[in-house]
Amino acid sequence: MRISDFIEKKRDGGEHTEEEIRCFITEMVNGNIPDYMISAWLMAAFIRGLNHSETVALTAAMAESGDTVDTSRINGITADKHSTGGVGDKTSLIIAPIVSCAGIKVAKLSGRGLGITGGTVDKIASIPGCKVELSTDEFFTAVDKIGMCISAQSGNLAPADKILYALRDVTATIDSIPLIASSIMSKKLASGADCIVLDVKCGNGAFMRTVEKAAELAGVMVDIGKSNGRKMCALVTDMSTPLGLAAGNAPEVKEAIDVLSGKGPTDTREICLEIAAQMMYLSGKGELDICRAMAEEILDSGRAKAKLSEFIAQVGGNPEVTEDTSLLPTAENVISITSPRDGYIESINAEMIGRAALMAGAGREKKTDAVDPAAGVILKCKIGDKVSAGDILCNIEASDKEKLSRAREFADSAFSFSDSAPTKKPLILRTIY
Ligand code: URA
Repeated sequence: MRISDFIEKKRDGGEHTEEEIRCFITEMVNGNIPDYMISAWLMAAFIRGLNHSETVALTAAMAESGDTVDTSRINGITADKHSTGGVGDKTSLIIAPIVSCAGIKVAKLSGRGLGITGGTVDKIASIPGCKVELSTDEFFTAVDKIGMCISAQSGNLAPADKILYALRDVTATIDSIPLIASSIMSKKLASGADCIVLDVKCGNGAFMRTVEKAAELAGVMVDIGKSNGRKMCALVTDMSTPLGLAAGNAPEVKEAIDVLSGKGPTDTREICLEIAAQMMYLSGKGELDICRAMAEEILDSGRAKAKLSEFIAQVGGNPEVTEDTSLLPTAENVISITSPRDGYIESINAEMIGRAALMAGAGREKKTDAVDPAAGVILKCKIGDKVSAGDILCNIEASDKEKLSRAREFADSAFSFSDSAPTKKPLILRTIY
């Protein structure tokens, strides 16, 4: 196949065959297609779109372009979850232990954070001693022994996605539902789980700004997974306000431990129980209400907290952190943002809190930046809370004092107020099978 013919076909609104797509991805990964041709095709695909069979074929070709996790090495059914990324999303640290306590294997590959969205790998790396880059043997040994493992994605997981994503980032072709869906699902398919629950975030702190767009993306990803023989569910959840109270690595680990200890914010608890229940349901543990009750029992009994502790010990970390969160890194410098007026908290903008946490050092602007494990924003209020002038709305914490003033500008603009209590938005907006 001539690559220029492939580009021309999409430019003119034609439909690619599975064979053409496979050939394009193989040649691209082998380094035989220059970036300008890949970029031209991306723009054609962005403008003309990809239909269902093209999107499924693209995803499968990307998934098979590098390493894949051979889950046949794991005894029993495997389940995975994926969030499209948000501010304060520490759910994997709570969900994986709950689901593995229900007898389902959770063999999870996660990413690092980029921009305002955090990554599970950075959160685990903030726990003293924890190793996040595990060998294949270390990964499977943990899954065998304790029923769960979370490790950093290997450099060669879906390499086609790395090439396409880097070019999309600089050619204004990120915001395309088939390209986002194939990018996310290629990594999920390569990770091998039998059952996958997606948490598709929507709102100002997420890729998808509206429920409709998020539901469309969720539907496409669910279809891709089902076409590849996986059991699938997607929740569309609100990310117009941060999840829970903490944004930042060690602060989010602390909140996850709080939730596993029966404390912590109710929105974090709720979303974790719902996703865990859906993972159990897809894995055949019973009707959804039974699975939900099982998830609550596992969380409230403390078994999930003990499981997280086992996992931390297994990857070389200090398991005592689950009983004593003061063992987590803490920042020396703290500033508080206070309320300028009496009233009710009407909104807390997730994007602004995410930017504040990023400026404090909790995230990376570029892939190569180092993160400050202790940095972050800790909210002291949630939407609907009554506040008085001078009350603390949030604390910003950082190891580097100089980072606090830029972080303050973003955090300051995150809050809006009203004279009467606002109506609260639901957290889980759609469920798609
Ligand atoms: N996350 C991904 O992995 N890929 C995208 O295209 C968007 C979000």
